[in-house]
Amino acid sequence: MSKQHLLTPYHKNIDLKNRVVMAPMTRSRADNEGKVPTDDLHGLYYEQRASAGLIITEGSQVSAEATGYINTPGIYTEAQVEGWKKVTKRVHDQGGTIFIQLWHVGRISHPDFHDGALPVSASAINPEAKSFTPEGFKDTVTPKAMTIEDIKRTVKDFQNAAKNAIEAGFDGVEIHSSNGYLFQQFFNGCSNTRTDEYGGSIENRARFFFEVLDAIKEVIPQERIAARFNPSAHNVFGITVDEDTIPTFEYIIKKLNDYNLAYVHLSEPFTDVSDVPFAVSEIAKHFRPLYNGTLMINNEFDKEKGNKVLEDGDADLVAYGKLFISNPDLVERFEQDVDLAEWDEDTFYTTGEKGYTDYPKATE
Ligand SMILES: Cc1cc2nc3c(=O)[nH]c(=O)nc-3n(C[C@H](O)[C@H](O)[C@H](O)COP(=O)(O)O)c2cc1C
Repeated sequence: MSKQHLLTPYHKNIDLKNRVVMAPMTRSRADNEGKVPTDDLHGLYYEQRASAGLIITEGSQVSAEATGYINTPGIYTEAQVEGWKKVTKRVHDQGGTIFIQLWHVGRISHPDFHDGALPVSASAINPEAKSFTPEGFKDTVTPKAMTIEDIKRTVKDFQNAAKNAIEAGFDGVEIHSSNGYLFQQFFNGCSNTRTDEYGGSIENRARFFFEVLDAIKEVIPQERIAARFNPSAHNVFGITVDEDTIPTFEYIIKKLNDYNLAYVHLSEPFTDVSDVPFAVSEIAKHFRPLYNGTLMINNEFDKEKGNKVLEDGDADLVAYGKLFISNPDLVERFEQDVDLAEWDEDTFYTTGEKGYTDYPKATE
């Protein structure tokens, strides 16, 4: 029997031992003052999953201002860099490869995280969503529209975070430009009504993202940079699709051909968009012909669907989220056709090892 596509190595800008990627997942285990990842929790968790071809860490805020959830780790202080060093060492010691996801939530935050100050976004439009604060879920507020100065400062924050990531031993960074967070708040018309050079035309709405990409490119090699997009996100954190949305992502993805990135990470729609005007239901099929580099695809893949999307040539890598929470040895289970363990949603965002580092491997 020939080897499953998912289990074949991948060599283009990044060298991966297989094509099974652990998707970025917030797990809220940095419940300490400095939002520092710890060796015994984060280190062990990622080490347990190091047989993945690539691990992408949970979203990690690039500044205090970028924070929007309790107990998420950052990548902007010295203590955080020291914490991540232990994590990357553990993964590398197991022969793994690990990128960090660089995150700014924008308006999906709350004044409680900012000493009462408003969260920032492209425009002053409330996403009418919930923010996960230290006191539980609270309604989001109308954010402050970013000034040019705010934008420039945030570009620097991403650049600094990328530099820190390399210092912490990461193999690369993934810009979180997906799922209704800050960059998507600039991409989509529902959340961006700016009239300056960051709003209006498609090119303008993509400008902030490319400024960040160019700034990161100044400090780390392009082959170590990736970006994530969810083009058909609809009713996800106040984001909706309109007639400009897919053309915006087509513009972005095509323009990324001018770069030499590690990969572009796309998600199939998180909700059923078959009846949503202007949305695209089959993201990999739609965007594959537009992009010459490495394409990663995600959302609700299992072993069969993962092998099929690679076989069909619609993607090069497949990212698995929830299956990696409950199956640290997902790759071995795919290889040996072992049953998969169910995940427990109740412990996705709790503290401590329960539901985090206590899922056994099939052999344990
Ligand atoms: C607990 C949890 C946390 C998540 N956190 C993030 C995150 O920090 N960054 C991100 O881009 N996506 C995040 N996601 C989305 C996942 O990366 C992935 O897109 C989603 O789980 C769908 O893939 P799956 O069907 O394989 O689980 C999260 C998903 C879950 C379940």
